[in-house]
Amino acid sequence: MREQLLAAEKVKAIDWRDGALYLLDQRALPFEETWVRYDSAAAVAQAIKDMVVRGAPAIGIAAAYGLALGVRARLAEGDDWQMALEEDFEVLNNSRPTAVNLFWALNRMRERLYRLKDSDDALAIMNAEAEAIHESDREANLTMAQLGVDLIRRHQGNLQTLLTHCNTGALATGGFGTALGVIRAAYLDGLVERVYADETRPWLQGSRLTAWELLNEGIPVSLNADSAAAHLMKTKGITWVIVGADRITANGDVANKIGTYQLAVNAMHHGVRFMVVAPSSTIDMNLESGDDIPIEERAGSELLELAGKRVAADVDAVNPVFDVTPADLIDFIVTEKGVVERPDKAKMALLMCRKRLH
Ligand code: MRU
Repeated sequence: MREQLLAAEKVKAIDWRDGALYLLDQRALPFEETWVRYDSAAAVAQAIKDMVVRGAPAIGIAAAYGLALGVRARLAEGDDWQMALEEDFEVLNNSRPTAVNLFWALNRMRERLYRLKDSDDALAIMNAEAEAIHESDREANLTMAQLGVDLIRRHQGNLQTLLTHCNTGALATGGFGTALGVIRAAYLDGLVERVYADETRPWLQGSRLTAWELLNEGIPVSLNADSAAAHLMKTKGITWVIVGADRITANGDVANKIGTYQLAVNAMHHGVRFMVVAPSSTIDMNLESGDDIPIEERAGSELLELAGKRVAADVDAVNPVFDVTPADLIDFIVTEKGVVERPDKAKMALLMCRKRLH
């Protein structure tokens, strides 16, 4: 299946070449495919904040390249370059709060930085570390896709009707996706009849990005309002909800795009299986439970306006953009280290002791 999956990789959103970072501007999709060039850490941090690049693993990868750009600029400034680089760590660290992949990638870059010797080519090594982070995410996607498909086949062998939320595909990762990677692989394996994609209010990752990715690959997809999900579970024979994650805590609670929690409640009520697909870089063993996860609040204008035009009455809006699904609503967490069924603290700890499966 690996070869089949690699052949199915069509879209990419992050490109590192000639010492610069190129990002496919996700704000312009699906109507325009515009690539923007970045050559400083501060500019990459702003791109993350503005959601030119989004999705937990993709944010981490972009931040690692942003830091590598910082290293080049700081080296040119002189002897105290490592001290000056702290400013770049700081600006990247502050770009978005919820997805832990961002901090994970920056920590990995920091660890590599600390191991540099005086005789090393610092720039080459830090560039290579960012590239390795990118490549390992791509590999993780492939492993998770295979594990996810095995689960679907094991639990329900026939054609499946799936529901997903937000965008977890090639646009959100270094490869072809987490949850969407499993869905792609299941389709290649002949297991998918139809995918329902939540539109994912208010930023519309579902209608603008997931629908675009699936359409490009000829995977049967229908778009639905987020509020239609329970009704669809009841009437359309949905067998699996498959979503990604932005941060998973030590007890197996999962932060993901706002609306995921209500999907899990509805899935349990309707006997629909609930699968979370995320690389281990999304797991934060430093936090005991989902209550400790900082939840990003974005501007109310994302709700009050549509395409820049006011559509709401003259009210304030509250716009938390992630929520936390408690572990006891989750059937499976699929990572590149293996699968956790009915997650809890002990199972998460065991998983994190394991090596990657690839
Ligand atoms: O606000 P976004 O678009 O960055 O949120 C993205 C999500 O919530 C995804 O579901 C999550 O990052 C998993 S992506 C593989």
